[in-house]
Amino acid sequence: MALLVTGGAGFIGSNFIRDWLALGDEPVVNLDKLTYAGNPANLGQYVGDRRYTLVQGDIGDAALVAQLLATVQPRAVLNFAAESHVDRSILGADDFIQTNIVGTFRLLEAVRAYWKGLQGEAHAAFRFLHVSTDEVYGTLSPTDPPFAETNRYEPNSPYAATKAASDHLVRAWHHTHGLPVITTNCSNNYGPYHFPEKLIPLVIHNALAGKPLPIYGDGQQVRDWLYVGDHCSAIRTVLAGGRLGETYNIGGWNEKPNLEVVRTLCAHLDALAPRADGASYATQITFVKDRPGHDRRYAIDARKLERELGWRPAETFDTGIEKTVRWYLANPQWVQDVTSGAYREWVGAQYGAATP
Ligand code: NAD
Ligand code: TYD
Repeated sequence: MALLVTGGAGFIGSNFIRDWLALGDEPVVNLDKLTYAGNPANLGQYVGDRRYTLVQGDIGDAALVAQLLATVQPRAVLNFAAESHVDRSILGADDFIQTNIVGTFRLLEAVRAYWKGLQGEAHAAFRFLHVSTDEVYGTLSPTDPPFAETNRYEPNSPYAATKAASDHLVRAWHHTHGLPVITTNCSNNYGPYHFPEKLIPLVIHNALAGKPLPIYGDGQQVRDWLYVGDHCSAIRTVLAGGRLGETYNIGGWNEKPNLEVVRTLCAHLDALAPRADGASYATQITFVKDRPGHDRRYAIDARKLERELGWRPAETFDTGIEKTVRWYLANPQWVQDVTSGAYREWVGAQYGAATP
């Protein structure tokens, strides 16, 4: 028995594999293209461990995926691989179309051929778990109920549109071809190994570097925040007991406006790593031009997952954020290693003079 995980060198995938290997001995093969967001060092502790294999490659490489499936004979494929950053999708969507749509299509086709060749119990027990986002549902007004699985898909960013397309492909491969799929749609994650282009790690990184903390627009956009370890436990739960062809929303019941998130981070940093001049990191907050098409509010109704499979998040926002800040303070080398040349070019293109 083994799992094939795609995109496992990124933020959530690497947390998933670490937790998986801490809980049991079932081997994991990680197929990852190692884009700017993929970092083999995230799982460096498993180099030489017979339970873990990293294969550098593209989910869109049909021959490679077919060969890998034939050799590994996984009982499940978990698809984390994606281009995942909204701002990058606004500057250029090509890679998002290629990986999130074309790549998912090629992966589905390779997995379908493999699954058709399985016999008996292996065929019946096989799962394809597609990891997706709440952003496919679009945006909410302050009084709307949170997103349920029955909400219409109304993606607003190029990123969300490509993830929505991939969800539709996964659905169709189940409906038409019978592929045993399950899709999860999760809210904003945070935690260790989060690439510092996303709000929470970017703010921690910039704060400690004495740089501005860029808040888009008025900072009153609301996101639901979930600690990454809780997302990983939800995925394990859905893999074990989710119903075929179903989608499950995953969320933290933690709606917060961005400005509040940033102020909370500053308060933790003030307590754990005070600035030499005694001023609060909050003095570095800088309002910058808003993101085009910026979704105002995301909120998740995760009651289906709780009702059917008994899952609830273990962390509150306060406990999860404190763990996260402590992790970044303890791992400055990791941040330094990932914020290399390509990252600095991106910051220049995205923030211009606002963030030196
Ligand atoms: P990430 O950007 O940190 O990691 C993505 C990983 O996929 C990287 O290791 C990258 O090298 C790899 N990859 C990219 N293109 C590939 C390709 N063509 N073939 C193989 N590997 C490829 O992303 P993340 O934040 O870890 O997100 C993982 C998944 O979870 C994504 O599908 C994302 O849409 C979804 N998701 C993320 C969040 C969040 O808050 N980060 C929330 C909900 C859902
Ligand atoms: P992000 O972490 O990019 O996740 P997503 O866009 O997928 O929700 O952004 C989270 C929120 O923070 C979003 O409303 C945009 C905002 N934001 C800023 O205000 N400043 C920043 O520098 C970044 C990266 C994000």
